[in-house]
Amino acid sequence: MTEQLSEHIPRFVAGLEADGYLSDPLWRKAFGEVPRHVFLPAFFLSLPDGRWQAIDATHPDYWRMVYADTTLTTQLDGTVSPDPDGGPLAGTGTSSSTQPGLMALMLEALRLSGGERVLEIGTGTGYNAALLAHRLGAQNVTSVEVDPVVADLARQRIAACGYRPTLVTGDGERGWPESAPYDRLIATVSVPAVPPAWLAQVRDGGAVVVSLWRDLGGGPLVRLEVNGGSGQGFFLAQSGGFMPVRSANRATAALSTAVKQTGTTRPTRHPSFVLHQTDAGLWLALRVPGVTWLGFTPDGGNEQMWLFALDGSWAAVDDTAGQVEQYGPRDLWDEFETVYDRWRDAGAPSRDRLGLTVTDTGEHRFWLDNPDAVVWDDAGARR
Ligand SMILES: C[S@@+](CC[C@H](N)C(=O)[O-])C[C@H]1O[C@@H](n2cnc3c(N)ncnc32)[C@H](O)[C@@H]1O
Repeated sequence: MTEQLSEHIPRFVAGLEADGYLSDPLWRKAFGEVPRHVFLPAFFLSLPDGRWQAIDATHPDYWRMVYADTTLTTQLDGTVSPDPDGGPLAGTGTSSSTQPGLMALMLEALRLSGGERVLEIGTGTGYNAALLAHRLGAQNVTSVEVDPVVADLARQRIAACGYRPTLVTGDGERGWPESAPYDRLIATVSVPAVPPAWLAQVRDGGAVVVSLWRDLGGGPLVRLEVNGGSGQGFFLAQSGGFMPVRSANRATAALSTAVKQTGTTRPTRHPSFVLHQTDAGLWLALRVPGVTWLGFTPDGGNEQMWLFALDGSWAAVDDTAGQVEQYGPRDLWDEFETVYDRWRDAGAPSRDRLGLTVTDTGEHRFWLDNPDAVVWDDAGARR
């Protein structure tokens, strides 16, 4: 195993550095010294058919997969843990070890100088909490995990690396007021809206780094500086998506309730790929919440992009024909085209020109370049 480590870890750290995720020498040291495999004795690998196969150290590619820049899923549907003796399984990931590059990006975005007290939401495997403990000392790290089984395994694995941070089993959406105030809060699980409790538990001048949950993706990673219980700051240039907190409604549920009725057809004004553009995609994901998408090619037909909302509305965009069919209470593609027009009319801004203010009552205001230039005020960000 020592041989495996001396081969894989230096290559892993060099890769994170070469890809631009790691530049701070202290984080480089942490990634080089906290062994990821301790937190991943087994995990689920996604198969081309959408199912999952459990993998452990007996697999010939185990070491390469653990020390690669990829997210590795460790729990499905809130209960199923990886069993390498079982066959492929269907399910949705509910706990994972985050993509290391994204972890490094967020840890660097905390902008630590040493000795800060940090609250992490979403302990998961415990790898990120161990990296924080390596950098700051375990006495400065508190991490909250909602799932007791996941929390217990994380506690054992962090301890095996020699760290004893404060690990709390509970709902991280309320933070952990018992050890507040913190200098930083990092959420490795996404939230539909930033809970005011988090901002209240971070001292003035401190910061929160979090990704907002949107079914469409968009990777809305934001760094908020905290003052008087409200937070303000820019979205990061890089995107970073996380699984949502367990309480979030996932619009993917709409897929099972969609009904095939004939909708209204009209020519499209924009092609469907605007949804996947880095900059426009952020605005679309943020401004059209509660909608999910799926690519589909009917037998003998053109490729289509379908959008589904929880109220039963759907839209099917056929780029080849330049047509969209829409059905239900919401004209989903009209909503997308309107938001895309607003983004383009604003000068097609890059994602890091968009900023967010979250007030101490939880109101979310999205602005361009400066906090006075509010582009939308989002009651829809709240559940
Ligand atoms: C992507 S994983 C976190 C990765 C982790 N930081 C690591 O290093 O492995 C997200 C975790 O958040 C947890 N979670 C979901 N909802 C939560 C909540 N309301 N409070 C705390 N944890 C939550 C999930 O159970 C899951 O373990």
